[in-house]
Amino acid sequence: MTRIMKTELADILNQPLAIGSRTIQKRLVMAPMAFLGNVAFRELVEQFGGYGLLFSEMCSAKRIPQENRYRSTYFRWRDAELSRLVCQIFGADPDRMALAARRVEAEGFLGVDINFGCSDITICRQNCGAAILNTPVLAAKIVSQVRKAISIPVFVKYRTGWQDQPRWAVEMARRFEDVGADALTFHPRVAPDRRSRPPKWEYIGRVKQAVSIPVFGNGNVFDQTDCLKMLLTTGCDGVAIGRMAIARPWLFAEWTMGYQSKDDLYLDCALRLADLLETHFNASQALRRFKRFGYYYSASFKFGHTLYRAIQSAENMIGAKHALQLFFERRPETVARPNLNFFS
Ligand SMILES: Cc1cc2nc3c(=O)[nH]c(=O)nc-3n(C[C@H](O)[C@H](O)[C@H](O)COP(=O)(O)O)c2cc1C
Repeated sequence: MTRIMKTELADILNQPLAIGSRTIQKRLVMAPMAFLGNVAFRELVEQFGGYGLLFSEMCSAKRIPQENRYRSTYFRWRDAELSRLVCQIFGADPDRMALAARRVEAEGFLGVDINFGCSDITICRQNCGAAILNTPVLAAKIVSQVRKAISIPVFVKYRTGWQDQPRWAVEMARRFEDVGADALTFHPRVAPDRRSRPPKWEYIGRVKQAVSIPVFGNGNVFDQTDCLKMLLTTGCDGVAIGRMAIARPWLFAEWTMGYQSKDDLYLDCALRLADLLETHFNASQALRRFKRFGYYYSASFKFGHTLYRAIQSAENMIGAKHALQLFFERRPETVARPNLNFFS
């Protein structure tokens, strides 16, 4: 990508964006990711900066009202991040979702994000996540009840639906706006398709044109060229980055602030995450999260499977760190675009 294109991208991403009663300073945000977008990983991203918003892992609306933030593995945050942190909630009962949203507001989060995008079988079996898109009236009722319960911004993250019908996705966007959503994150894939086929970015453009609230485009943005293309071809107001943020936590700083990555950054970053995970979680929770991170992180290397296997077989964090050191002693070659075998 040329320097001029990088500047053009940074100029767009650095324009403030009003979302309901709040304004964010950058239009590049980290998408919600269960298990991966945990409090430790978010602290790592914050050390680099450059993002407009972070989203929490999805949290069950049923549990939020009683949840102890110091014991919960998901509903956990640092106070310092609250002014840029949106809590994602999932559930099927409008009253429970509203109650959970009230707690989220009382804790001081910037906003509440309603999860209508997760197509994981365990979530869909509970009629939550993307399953709710099968009942548009219920989906709208949930957004409406949450809207009435709180004054902070309400975000909705959703997919094309269960059939490949862009008109339906547009219709849903209008419904969400009508009942009070302040912003949408739209991932243009049908629900049964986890992440195997490419998302249809042209649908993002259709959704954007149908509503006057901000729309974040999402799906398969792997580098700055992709990001600029998504912004220019769809007209979306911002971009939500998922897996690439795990592979390169400094990506936000690089794309919006021209942060230059150094040779030892990959190793340094992984070691820092290991330490942060040990600070925020007990030993087995920390190791499990580090192993999951290792999957996406390994996608950046030519022989990433070697690193991936070494991290997966580590018995404790000391072993995982040792595996990293050994891998980097061989000065591994990085790849510009991630190895998609690791990106399922
Ligand atoms: C491991 C993993 C966990 C995810 N968890 C959530 C989630 O809890 N809530 C949600 O709305 N989306 C979730 N997603 C979907 C992402 O937010 C995003 O829509 C998807 O990865 C496509 O964006 P990308 O191509 O930039 O990764 C998850 C994705 C991954 C890879």
